[in-house]
Amino acid sequence: MTNRSQTAAPVGTAVVAGGSAGLGLKIAETLLRARYQVSILGRDETRLAAALAVLQPVAEQAGTQIDAVVTDVTDTTSVESCFAQLSQRWSRLDVLVNCVGQSDRGRVESLTVDHFDRMLRVNVRSALLCSTAALPMLRRSRGVVVNIGSLASKLGSRYLGGYCAAKHALAGLTQQMRLEWSQYGVHVGLVSPGPIRRDDAGRRYDTTGQGLPESATLPAGGAKLSGLEPQRVADAVLRCIVNRQPDLILPARVRLLVVICQLFPRLGDRLLIKFTGGTAAVD
Ligand SMILES: NC(=O)c1ccc[n+]([C@@H]2O[C@H](COP(=O)([O-])OP(=O)(O)OC[C@H]3O[C@@H](n4cnc5c(N)ncnc54)[C@H](OP(=O)(O)O)[C@@H]3O)[C@@H](O)[C@H]2O)c1
Repeated sequence: MTNRSQTAAPVGTAVVAGGSAGLGLKIAETLLRARYQVSILGRDETRLAAALAVLQPVAEQAGTQIDAVVTDVTDTTSVESCFAQLSQRWSRLDVLVNCVGQSDRGRVESLTVDHFDRMLRVNVRSALLCSTAALPMLRRSRGVVVNIGSLASKLGSRYLGGYCAAKHALAGLTQQMRLEWSQYGVHVGLVSPGPIRRDDAGRRYDTTGQGLPESATLPAGGAKLSGLEPQRVADAVLRCIVNRQPDLILPARVRLLVVICQLFPRLGDRLLIKFTGGTAAVD
C-alpha cells in the first residue's frame, strides 16, 4: 500500500533560524510534519547535527527534506552567505521563522550599554538581517515571515534586563515590515508566547538573577503563568503561516492584560506588579 504522505509533493520550503534547539527545533519538526522542506540555522555544528538526527526520521516520514546551514544570524556576512547557499539549494523560499532570541534578567540601572547592544543584536538585528536577506525569494513566492516575540514584546515587566526593550523593538519592526511588505505580497507575523515548558526552566537565571527578588529568576519574571507546551507554540506558528495571522499572543487570555495596559496604564502597572509576585511598587 502506498503511504500518501510519502508521495505528495512538499507544500513549500521553510527556514527556521535558531532551529537546532528549544522552540526552534519544535517549530522545525512541526513544519516538516506539515510537509515543508526545512533548513535550520544555528552557530554550533554539533548542535545542528544532533538536531538533524532528531529531524531526519520526521522528514522521511513526511516525504520531505531537512538540512542545516551553520550561520551566525547576527553577522551580516554569515547571513548573506547562508541565503546565497539557500537560494541555490532551493528553487524557492516560502517561509522564514526568526526564532533566535535570548531572555535576560537584571535591573535597568545595572544594564551596561554593551549588554544592551548584545540583547538588541540577538533579538532584533538577527530578525532584520535574515528577513531582508530572504526578501527577494519571499517576494517571488509571496511568502511569510514569522518573528518569535514573547509576552515581553507586549508588556513591560520588572527585572528583565534588556529583554523587554529588545522584544518591544522586535514587535515594532514586525509591524513595520508587515505594513511595508504587504505591497509585495509578503506577510509578516509576530507570535508572542509566555514561558515555555522546558527542562531547565527555573534554573536559567540562577547566575544573571543574583541580587534580584527570587520571583524575578523564575520563568516570565515570576508571572503566575504555567509553562506552555512547546508544541502549542509551534502549532500557533503554523497557524500564523497558513492563515497569515498578524499577531498571536499565548496564552490568549493575556490579551486582556495587554489591552488594559494600553488603555489604562496606571491600572496596568498595578496589575503587572501583582502578576509578577510583587506586593508594592518598591521592593
Ligand atoms: N524559552 C521560553 O520560555 C520562551 C518564552 C517566550 C519566548 N521565547 C523566545 O523563543 C525563542 C527561542 O527561545 P528558546 O528558549 O527556545 O531558545 P534556546 O533554547 O536558547 O535556543 C536558541 C536557538 O537559537 C540558536 N542561536 C542562538 N544565537 C544564534 C545566532 N547568533 N545565530 C544563529 N543561531 C543562534 C541556538 O543555536 P546555537 O547556540 O548553536 O547558535 C539555538 O538553536 C527566542 O526568541 C525567545 O526569546 C522563549
